[in-house]
Amino acid sequence: MPGFLGTPAALIPDIVVVAMFLVLPAFFYGAWLAKKGKTKTHARIMSGVFTLLFVVVVIFVIWNQVANDYQVNWKDKPFYKEFFLPFVFGHIIIALSGLFTGAFVLLSALKWREPNQKGELAFKSAKHRKIHIWAGRLALVLFVLIAVTGLIIYYYRYVFVFTE
Ligand code: HEM
Repeated sequence: MPGFLGTPAALIPDIVVVAMFLVLPAFFYGAWLAKKGKTKTHARIMSGVFTLLFVVVVIFVIWNQVANDYQVNWKDKPFYKEFFLPFVFGHIIIALSGLFTGAFVLLSALKWREPNQKGELAFKSAKHRKIHIWAGRLALVLFVLIAVTGLIIYYYRYVFVFTE
């Protein structure tokens, strides 16, 4: 099925590249809510957005293995071996780290949370809180890197090689 961004990409890569940039503001809004003490809404937003992102990425990875959306002689394309392949490798490492960090932050928070006197959520200990905040911040940085490196790969694969 063709995509909607006006490039030769199929629908799935178009959805993934747009979804990645749509979820970023939601993640930062969620972190801001935690800072303001609205930790219940924070937990709902972060769990929902991360689960959605996880499902979209898994569908994309499976699709990427089975689909062959268009035929290009990649070896002839400029910067393919010296830039594109190592860059994709780096992107995959960052993406896996982001997914693992996000999953750890989410699952550990579900285990370590407890209600506080204000009817919001807190952590069982100061140590749990510290781990959540730092791992959560690392996850946000990795999500931004995944989106930016993913966009560069999309540009190379579906725009750059067609302007050559
Ligand atoms: C992928 C999912 C999540 C990410 C990336 C994430 C990220 C963060 C970040 C970055 C902060 C610190 C905000 C700041 O003060 O700068 C934070 C705080 C907090 N998060 Fe999460 N979070 C996630 C899921 C959850 C879940 C599922 C819960 C609860 C079940 C939760 C509970 C909290 C609480 C209670 C705080 C406030 C800690 C405090 O200041 O005492 N988070 N989170």
